[in-house]
Amino acid sequence: MGIEMNTDAVVLVGGKGTRLRPLTLSAPKPMLPTAGQPFLSHLLARIAESGITHVVLSTSFKAEVFEEYFGDGSKLGLEIEYVFEEEPLGTGGGIRNVLPKLRGENVMVFNGDVLTGSDLSALLDTHTEKEADVTLHLVRVGDPRAYGSVPTDAEGRVTAFLEKTQDPPTDQINAGCYVFRREVIEEIPANRAVSVEREVFPALLARDARVYGYVDTTYWRDMGTPEDFVRGSADLVRGIAPSPLLEGERGESLVHPGAGIAPGALLIGGTVVGRGAEIGAGARLDGAVVFEGAVVEAGAVVERSILGFGSRIGPRALVRDAVIGDGADVGARCELLRGARVWPGVTLPDGGVRFSTDV
Ligand code: GTP
Repeated sequence: MGIEMNTDAVVLVGGKGTRLRPLTLSAPKPMLPTAGQPFLSHLLARIAESGITHVVLSTSFKAEVFEEYFGDGSKLGLEIEYVFEEEPLGTGGGIRNVLPKLRGENVMVFNGDVLTGSDLSALLDTHTEKEADVTLHLVRVGDPRAYGSVPTDAEGRVTAFLEKTQDPPTDQINAGCYVFRREVIEEIPANRAVSVEREVFPALLARDARVYGYVDTTYWRDMGTPEDFVRGSADLVRGIAPSPLLEGERGESLVHPGAGIAPGALLIGGTVVGRGAEIGAGARLDGAVVFEGAVVEAGAVVERSILGFGSRIGPRALVRDAVIGDGADVGARCELLRGARVWPGVTLPDGGVRFSTDV
């Protein structure tokens, strides 16, 4: 029996996704459309590809959306079960809470918002070879301060776990995917909120448990912020980020067959246009993520921004590094720049928000 058959996958999808608001007011972060599919579909396809067949989704916020979409998982060649937390139990509590559903000796836990091409079989092999209690996928990043910094010794054994510190000792960070020996999960306190990063890993190190790191140089991005979501989506469209769902379809843009693109509209930089969206003549979209039913009027410019379901960008408006909520209406010639977030249903009148003094 391959080790994958003795391994359950658990995907943590119960977070509120506050950093991606207002888009996450209506949809949980792992279900946001990403290169034409809910983000989680890409991850589940990777899991299926690895040979793991049993997946438990650890849900809380907007839990029903997952089951409605994925059902029993058979369409993906998986068996998916759901465990719901009335009160969010945190990343560690979410893992502990699914224990009754686990069948195998090993449990591979995934954050539901990480885009990566890591080799899951190689991670499992490291876990087995090292006879580890826990094996963490680690990646090297340019600025590790926003993540959990995880130094390892010459054998790959983890020596410390420092969550979001100003002065990280290494550029190796926690990539949000771990293999646990099942018994280790039994040690996590039940029925209360527990953070795997702040509580479980430090406690394991304190009792000298065998915690190892598996480092690779594959593509990796945490999709938790608008900036990263936009980058990750564009990377998927352009073939920079891997996904088993997108083989052979990569290019400068990805347009749903049911979207309307007027002549002279320019779609570049990994732009994705969802079903029923309409892009007007001469509009320029560079790295834009256009959800279903959104409208970009003639001559508007949208760069590195997310346009929520059914939102509208008026003629000659400029939207750059911004997030437009579902059903929001941005008037003609408005200018929304870096960090702007327009809440769902809000209407900005024509010319109502400007960064320049031209009339
Ligand atoms: P922010 O509010 O923007 O930080 O997003 P988040 O709520 O998703 O938190 P974070 O990105 O730190 O979460 C990492 C992963 O764990 C995501 O896939 C979340 O869905 C998941 N997660 C976070 N908190 C919980 C929880 O309390 N229960 C469960 N089951 N999953 C959680």
